[in-house]
Amino acid sequence: MRIIVTGGAGFIGSHIVEAYLALGHELLVIDSLWEHGGGRRANVPAHVSFEPMDIRDKNLGRIFAAFRPEVVSHHAAQHSVAVSARDPGYDAEVNVVGLLNVLENAVKVKARKVIFAGSGASFGTPDTFPITEATPQRPTSPYGITKMVGEHYLRFFKEDRGLDFTSLRYGNVYGPRQDPNGEAGVVSIFIGKFLKHEGVRIDWDGEQTRDYVYVKDVAQCNVAALDKGSGECFVIGTGIKTSVNQIYRSLVEITGFQAPVTRAAKRPGDARDAQFDSSLARERLGWLPQTSLRDGIIETYRYFQRLIAA
Ligand SMILES: NC(=O)c1ccc[n+]([C@@H]2O[C@H](COP(=O)([O-])OP(=O)(O)OC[C@H]3O[C@@H](n4cnc5c(N)ncnc54)[C@H](O)[C@@H]3O)[C@@H](O)[C@H]2O)c1
Repeated sequence: MRIIVTGGAGFIGSHIVEAYLALGHELLVIDSLWEHGGGRRANVPAHVSFEPMDIRDKNLGRIFAAFRPEVVSHHAAQHSVAVSARDPGYDAEVNVVGLLNVLENAVKVKARKVIFAGSGASFGTPDTFPITEATPQRPTSPYGITKMVGEHYLRFFKEDRGLDFTSLRYGNVYGPRQDPNGEAGVVSIFIGKFLKHEGVRIDWDGEQTRDYVYVKDVAQCNVAALDKGSGECFVIGTGIKTSVNQIYRSLVEITGFQAPVTRAAKRPGDARDAQFDSSLARERLGWLPQTSLRDGIIETYRYFQRLIAA
């Protein structure tokens, strides 16, 4: 199958590229290597076609027309909640106007389907857990708003132009290649500190929980969505709540290093809990996360260890 992966040089996108390559698909990665994102040219294997282009670029149509994808896996985005709060206009330009450019061009070249990186951020702080597809979306950040709006455009394009879609609303994805210097991604941030034998900062009381899902499991979900889950949105997580303190304790146990802890106040807008029930993804996509948090943390730790040693 001919597939375009936008954001394919980024953390999640590059694992999707690997999973698609393993199945023999023909790929084109489009990524602007945005300075505040996790995209690196080195994340894309040298033999994979790579187009360094912004998804808002008027020339995107030329690239789509030359490659003629059957499916577009759309993972390019402005993915920072903080940037979205500071500059909602920029967030909307990339996550809404950029998405529309991708959708219009997918229609023009008669692509069959778009797989969309949705987000748990589109739910805001729900009244009840676990979060399912039936949970009302009440986003509390411009980023969450644009991820929700994106799904409405997908529905419109399916109904009006016949472009199929599947939206995957991820929980907290972690794993190799996640930026350890980013604002989010506590697993890689902590691993970065543990490897340098530095202290870590834990906000609030550290008992806030998230649903951490391993990036290679997320990539497999994108494989399943190539031909399943037509016109549907899925919440993608493990169903397991893990606190920041638990992640800290796992790393102490795995590394044998008792990193000093600095306590800090709750960050504005931080949610107390997150937990996703992915039963629908299991039923419709046949998707089940395979990696335990402990195994995923160990694989991620080893990856960063090798990176430092290289
Ligand atoms: N990491 C998570 O836990 C998580 C959770 C929910 C949803 N998502 C979504 O998954 C997708 C991938 O996120 P990630 O964590 O891998 O982040 P990432 O920053 O590593 O990947 C995003 C990629 O998009 C590229 N990009 C940004 N703006 C672009 C533009 N205007 N044109 C072309 N390329 C552009 C970046 O260079 C980067 O390579 C995003 O859509 C994000 O919103 C991520």
